[in-house]
Amino acid sequence: MRHLMSPLDLSVQETDKLLNLANDIEKNPEKYAHACAGKKLATCFYEPSTRTRLSFEAAMLNLGGSVLGFSSADSSSAAKGESVSDTIRVISCYADICAMRHPKEGAPLVASEKSAIPVINAGDGGHQHPTQTLTDLLTIHSLKGHLDNLTIGLCGDLKFGRTVHSLIHALIRYPNVKFVLISPEELRVPSYIREDVLAQNNVPFKEVVRLEDALPELDILYMTRVQKERFFNEEDYIRMKDFYILDKAKMELAPKDMLVLHPLPRVNEISTEVDDDPRAVYFKQVQYGVYVRMALILTLLGMEV
Ligand code: NCD
Repeated sequence: MRHLMSPLDLSVQETDKLLNLANDIEKNPEKYAHACAGKKLATCFYEPSTRTRLSFEAAMLNLGGSVLGFSSADSSSAAKGESVSDTIRVISCYADICAMRHPKEGAPLVASEKSAIPVINAGDGGHQHPTQTLTDLLTIHSLKGHLDNLTIGLCGDLKFGRTVHSLIHALIRYPNVKFVLISPEELRVPSYIREDVLAQNNVPFKEVVRLEDALPELDILYMTRVQKERFFNEEDYIRMKDFYILDKAKMELAPKDMLVLHPLPRVNEISTEVDDDPRAVYFKQVQYGVYVRMALILTLLGMEV
């Protein structure tokens, strides 16, 4: 039985296979429409979510399976003090696979150790978000045609943004990938990513504060929201929240074939005037998120179609 806690739980080969499966699902949805008939997905979300939870549910429904779950800690027995280890033992009796989001780093991992069914980390605190990364990889691969030879700008809250942490882990495995880390001084990537992941693997990267300086050289711009819920005080959040605003004027500085991704939700960091720019692919990215989660469910359940 396999779980997915980090993008590194899948080898590059397995990741490529999963992305190909997602592309086949996109082209031939009817072929997969009953693949999970009789199977159940539990979504255990202890933290707010729109896309991740609903895209998991849509994915399972598209595969002909069913879904059950809860969408906040208050509406589950966590409010009574139940541990995730106990909860997952119980969920194992009701469902065949579980997607779990939790504000504490490592909580889905703890759950997976006691689980009788595959557990997917749907975001654990400021740590990792592997299925968003699979979504991002599928988006880039489908629209650019490759995952190697790319200069990727990651912009915004690189300290608390778990999507950024997972994406860096996944992308350094492809040849000739370079990063431009664009953030205010206070929201730089954690040192364990800078030292142990980037520097240790000799991945070229630079850290800049001004988005304008980075734009001309980017193949991909990955915008992120300042993670309000992870700040210790509101004042710091307010000072940081509008640090970056991508607008039409800034898009003029970017290459004609650069893609703009964003895991969403967007707050102010991308002006809505950018939405009509053909380079803005963050809503397409949402659709890819469904295909890739369908592929992941099939893979972890070991269903051959
Ligand atoms: C992200 C998350 O939850 O980390 N959202 C998502 O799953 N698409 C990004 C965010 O909340 O900023």
